[in-house]
Amino acid sequence: MKIAILGSGMVGHALGTKLVEIGHQVLMGSRTARSEAGQEWLRSVKAQAQIGTFADAAAFGEIILDCTNGANSLAALRQGGAANLADKILIQISNPLDFSQGMPPSLTVCNTDSLGEQIQREFPQARVVKALNTVNCAVMVQPSLVPGDHDLIICGNDATAKREVVGLLGEWFGWKEQSVIDLGDITSSRATEMYLALWVRLWGVLGTPHFNIKVTRSRN
Ligand SMILES: NC(=O)c1ccc[n+]([C@@H]2O[C@H](COP(=O)([O-])OP(=O)(O)OC[C@H]3O[C@@H](n4cnc5c(N)ncnc54)[C@H](OP(=O)(O)O)[C@@H]3O)[C@@H](O)[C@H]2O)c1
Repeated sequence: MKIAILGSGMVGHALGTKLVEIGHQVLMGSRTARSEAGQEWLRSVKAQAQIGTFADAAAFGEIILDCTNGANSLAALRQGGAANLADKILIQISNPLDFSQGMPPSLTVCNTDSLGEQIQREFPQARVVKALNTVNCAVMVQPSLVPGDHDLIICGNDATAKREVVGLLGEWFGWKEQSVIDLGDITSSRATEMYLALWVRLWGVLGTPHFNIKVTRSRN
């Protein structure tokens, strides 16, 4: 499969490396065609992989993974180009975190709106599925890093796209179908993005980013 990774940070590196390892064609996009971080990633992967601009990546990918800096994701996706996103699944991983006032970060958008919604509104033809944003990137690509069953929450407006993403997350990374909770339409991005306020503080007290949540319920 031809996969676009938009973003050259640690998330782009982790996902890109895993996807190349399992035999996919990956093009990692940045603001510039030969970004330092992109070149570093290219040197680290053994099999076929490419780097380029956000537009190169978005044009190349049959499916697009948004791993951009959340405060700048809309700008990055604009550089990717609306036409290149049209009719494609966009796995929207970035979180709208604002670190400008230090730790813990706040959110650039919250409560009555979310980054997932802003992206779906601006790119109505993209099939946006918010996913993977609630776990660390090492856990994204290897859920077994966290022992036992634990859950991944996704949302989006396109039911078919969500089903495809659930299948791909299983095939690519080993996420079990029964561990994926579909929270509904893209407005649920508000909840999964605001969860980051809790995630960051859990990280602080647990001393590792390699954790996740398990939702359990009563039988009646
Ligand atoms: N770290 C995790 O484990 C984790 C887990 C879940 C979700 N997330 C989310 O995943 C996203 C990626 O995180 P990260 O740490 O890998 O990377 P990051 O440092 O947050 O973002 C790096 C990417 O953002 C692009 N970018 C930065 N400023 C930009 C601007 N003004 N305009 C356009 N693009 C810009 C960079 O472009 P260049 O390539 O040109 O530099 C780069 O590709 C974040 O939203 C984060 O909240 C992270």
